[in-house]
Amino acid sequence: MIEGQLKELKDSADAELAQATGVQDVELLRVKYLGKKGALTDILKGLAAVDSSERPRIGQLANQFKTELSDQLTLKAEEFAATETQARLDRDRVDIHLPSFRRHTGRLHPVQRVMREVQEIFGRLGFSVKEGPDVETEHYNFESLNIPSDHPARDMHDTFYLKMGQLLRTHTSPVQIRTMETQRPPIKIIVPGNVYRCDMDITHSPMFHQVEGLYVDESVSFAQLKGTLTYFLREFFGHERDVRFRPSYFPFTEPSTEVDVQCGRCDGAGCASCKYSGWLEILGAGMVNRKVFESVGYDPDQVTGFAFGIGIERLAMLKYKISDIRLLYENDLRFLSQF
Ligand code: PHE
Repeated sequence: MIEGQLKELKDSADAELAQATGVQDVELLRVKYLGKKGALTDILKGLAAVDSSERPRIGQLANQFKTELSDQLTLKAEEFAATETQARLDRDRVDIHLPSFRRHTGRLHPVQRVMREVQEIFGRLGFSVKEGPDVETEHYNFESLNIPSDHPARDMHDTFYLKMGQLLRTHTSPVQIRTMETQRPPIKIIVPGNVYRCDMDITHSPMFHQVEGLYVDESVSFAQLKGTLTYFLREFFGHERDVRFRPSYFPFTEPSTEVDVQCGRCDGAGCASCKYSGWLEILGAGMVNRKVFESVGYDPDQVTGFAFGIGIERLAMLKYKISDIRLLYENDLRFLSQF
């Protein structure tokens, strides 16, 4: 009779095990069939009624049932555990193919980069940096630089006038005067700064940047001017580019010169960028005019000097091949991030 019960129990355990869907189901089955108060224990209570000669065999059957079912349960539980682990791993997997968040790092504006490079090159030659105000007077911006009010050069400057005789400086040259008024020679400075002119097209902006240079001492020569500026341009543009000095005119220098570098687009052959001349104008310079020395109380028979003024945007446009100056002020990140 017990034998029959054991067989039934085995069948029903097999059937239920086949239905199990997880580790928990399997553990419930273990309790139900093999636990202390489980089905097997119940059946074995009947063992006392079994004939003593039969008892060992039935006992053996019961044990066999117990070990077999226990093994099956363990196996099944392990299977479920493995699938569940795998499922969890699949669920929690970090997809390393997803793009990460892009960090935008700041960088120097091309105008600032050029400014710094210019300062660095002149720094090597012993020039130190001076600054002056953007809001100037007619005296510093014009008169003391030998540009009286009826001087035709004033027309070239397209000045923004402010109230009470003030104006936005049209060049960094007034800082020459401010420095010489407060210092004695030797003076060897460069002056980076903003300048303003009422003018706007693809090569002009109402606000732009210049670096002024001034070297005054007892016997500064035009040869030193040429040497200094040639060194600067070669360092900045590369040694393969030729440099030339053309005679020019500025009221505050005499003699005056404009300096060109060979066009980098056509290597001097002539193209649209250089208006088919092969050369690009890059800066104005000259020997400080005696009248300027007189206006600051220097004796023009005792000292000589040279000065120069460089347009920073111009340098940036040529170095980085930028065709429209306005790109430098629109702050479009697609443009700026290229530098
Ligand atoms: N100040 C001049 C300009 O803005 C440049 C310059 C500076 C020329 C110093 C000669 C000497 O055009």
